[in-house]
Amino acid sequence: MSLLIKNGRIITATDDYVGDVFIEDESIVAVGKNLPQRATTIIDATGLLVMPGGIDPHVHLDMPFMGTFSSDTHETGTRAALFGGTTTVIDFVLQKQGHSLHEALAEWNGRARGTAVGDYSFHMAVTDYNDETKKEIRQMVEEEGITSFKTFMAYKGALMIDDRQMTALMQEVKKCGGLVTVHATNGDMIDYLIAKHRAEGKLSPLYHYLSQPEVTEAEASARFADIANYTGCPGYIVHLTCEGALNAVRNATRRNQTVFVETCIQYLLLDAELYEKDFEGAKWVMSPPLRKGKDRETLWAGINQGLVRVVATDHCPFLWKQKLMGEKDFSKIPNGHPAIENRMELLFSEGVQKGRIGLNKYVEVASTNAAKIFGLWPRKGTLAPGSDADLVLFDPNEKHTLSAKTHHMNVDYSAYEGWDLTGKVKTVILRGRVAIDHNQCLVEKGYGQFIKRNKV
Ligand code: URP
Ligand code: ZN
Ligand code: ZN
Repeated sequence: MSLLIKNGRIITATDDYVGDVFIEDESIVAVGKNLPQRATTIIDATGLLVMPGGIDPHVHLDMPFMGTFSSDTHETGTRAALFGGTTTVIDFVLQKQGHSLHEALAEWNGRARGTAVGDYSFHMAVTDYNDETKKEIRQMVEEEGITSFKTFMAYKGALMIDDRQMTALMQEVKKCGGLVTVHATNGDMIDYLIAKHRAEGKLSPLYHYLSQPEVTEAEASARFADIANYTGCPGYIVHLTCEGALNAVRNATRRNQTVFVETCIQYLLLDAELYEKDFEGAKWVMSPPLRKGKDRETLWAGINQGLVRVVATDHCPFLWKQKLMGEKDFSKIPNGHPAIENRMELLFSEGVQKGRIGLNKYVEVASTNAAKIFGLWPRKGTLAPGSDADLVLFDPNEKHTLSAKTHHMNVDYSAYEGWDLTGKVKTVILRGRVAIDHNQCLVEKGYGQFIKRNKV
């Protein structure tokens, strides 16, 4: 089977020219100008951008969390991702405290294998680091192709590890050739502020925001950078939201340290004033919370400065009835918001169309950098001979409006309801097969493959 995409504007992290992509079976064979016009199927991409499939390295599918499960399964979540131009996601396996990493992996495999529609990989979240867990780190890297280990400096009493465990884990992960990622906020301070607000009867979603001030993130980001520097382990901060935290990373560069930074689309676009909408603010209850205009400006600049390398989603959707679990107490609102389907189009419309980032930078932060950081490169994240044929054909001028009525995520509201966007995903190709076309999904449940990742 062969497929020729012809006359598209080919955009990678470095290229921008009109040309063709020739695909055989699951892989790209050639990319260039005036390729031979012979193939089983030919798609004319005149007027469209042709880009590598998006990679969202931060999603939570079917995840047990705060007394419920995130509402997108591996089937519905990866399908929605495809509709939005994201061909690969990296989901989080959560170790249960007192249990092994392998037990957790078996549980996640049970949910994802044979159900995912798009490609996926796993990060392993270490919530209980001890002598037994230590032995499993190398096995995860060498045997399972899981090379990134997620840690939480927050969610005290549930997922949080302390600095002792963090230091020991980082030493081991470095030896094994992996990377440690972190939810970097000060769990003790947040725990205290939540308890204080509850004791004072301050129970609305606004107090979720006020329990996680910027300093909690700035402090933990600096501490994480210091521990990473001491251990020499590669470090990656997930969902960084604010100026104080980015400055901590900037400071680390002064000693020639690299700390990879991910932000998420919501922190580039949404303002904390949404928490003032009484309980409707629960739609945006997530951790860390939304911030202020000065933080968004810092993050956009951070992208262009090369400090913020990835724009992900932290997709962790809950139905409205699940959000209502916290109607009388903000601390019981399941944390997370839906965006897996919207990321690429939002980033294009608000980023590229509004002149905040260029097209090459767009591909870099939406796909290429995640592939490089997480050991998927060059299989994913680029258009090159030998790479998986994961492509997005994108109309940069088509206008459309986001709505829960038309999205494919399994959630009954949209965090971006009524947003008018310019730029739309038209056709998505996953490992050589047309997966999305004319607003239809053409690949079946189970087509998505688990992708083993390389050492970093
Ligand atoms: O609110 C969030 N972010 N929910 C998902 C879990 C996490 O902290 O990433
Ligand atoms: Zn987090
Ligand atoms: Zn998350």
